Amino acid sequence: MNIRHVFTVLVLLLIIVLASGFVGENPYFIITSKDVQLKIPKGFPKPVYDFKQNKISAEGFILGRKLFHDPILSKDRSTSCATCHQRFAAFAHIDHALSHGINGSIGKRNVPAIQNMIWQNTFMWDGGINHLDLQPIAPITSAVEMDETLQNVVQKLQNNKEYVSLFNNSFGDTIITSEKMLKAISQFVGLMISADSRYDKMMAGKEKFNEQEKEGLKIFRARCASCHKEPLFTDYSFRNIGLMPDTALRDSGRAAITGLQSDNMKFKVPSLRNVEMTYPYMHNGRFRNLQQVLNHYSQGNFYHKFRFANCKKYWNVGN
Ligand code: HEC
Ligand code: HEC
Repeated sequence: MNIRHVFTVLVLLLIIVLASGFVGENPYFIITSKDVQLKIPKGFPKPVYDFKQNKISAEGFILGRKLFHDPILSKDRSTSCATCHQRFAAFAHIDHALSHGINGSIGKRNVPAIQNMIWQNTFMWDGGINHLDLQPIAPITSAVEMDETLQNVVQKLQNNKEYVSLFNNSFGDTIITSEKMLKAISQFVGLMISADSRYDKMMAGKEKFNEQEKEGLKIFRARCASCHKEPLFTDYSFRNIGLMPDTALRDSGRAAITGLQSDNMKFKVPSLRNVEMTYPYMHNGRFRNLQQVLNHYSQGNFYHKFRFANCKKYWNVGN
């Protein structure tokens, strides 16, 4: 084995160790208000999302969970949030590179995992949305995802006796509004917290890393953690890591939001929690497995050429 192989194996081991469990969603438990309290994991920063503006309750969480799994949110009642965000895949979608929505339409980006969203200040690969409560409007109204209008969704829910009673239990009112619906979804999505991985247990002194894992963490801290910052494994910045542009998708990333040439091909640094479960990888799902990701990072030119570079030579903003 040469140095490059050792590096690859160690980083791979570390990444696998980062796989972790979720607090929250499990249809087989009876959920009580005790279960849906927000507990900030030790060592985590203060969340960005303010649950004081959206008081968590067992009823609100249960309603949010039902909405998340209900295809009623889509135009032809075929597609739910959970169609694309699969629980067993850390709420990512594991079997294809680009998202699949209503009428078999194919989107232009890879479905990201949903975890630790209340620490995030921008959403989507390009950070085009800046509040968790507003995020669901994008998939609901996207022609290639759910192709519905908020007005129709609210009407469908209002016509449904079960929802009227669930909204009444959660908000003390039988009138359904899009604001209440979005807040309920945020209660569910916001409580998807990943903080109990082997890494977390090691940091808390409950478990010990073996020698290889320790070495992997050392390399990770030296070469990856500047962007994939502990303990959330992202610093939420936008970076260009020198992936070859996809000429079919022509996705300019962050530049489409800011209009800045310097943001061309920059994408949000994704968290690496649960990463072994969220394949394929990158904004367009171009890498099928972690080995391919590491091969990309192992190319000599990544650290020299692309670390903080903007790829100006690629196409212009907005194209
Ligand atoms: C057709 C598949 C599909 C459906 C349906 C869908 N999503 Fe997504 N979701 C995606 C894709 C793809 C992205 C990334 C979009 C982008 O970067 O432009 C995403 C991004 C997100 C994010 C942001 C994650 C991050 O790290 O920034 C959240 C939160 C989310 N979706 C929640 C939901 C909720 C809630 C629903 C239901 C109302 C939903 N999604 C429906 C495919 C889907
Ligand atoms: C300069 C910042 C930066 C550094 C350093 C960096 N990454 Fe990344 N990483 C990113 C960005 C940005 C993406 C998303 C790129 C995209 O989709 O276009 C990413 C994506 C990934 C993904 C795919 C995750 C997913 O859900 O699709 C993995 C795995 C990964 N990085 C691991 C690593 C490892 C291991 C290292 C160290 C060898 C590393 N990264 C170093 C910024 C960085």
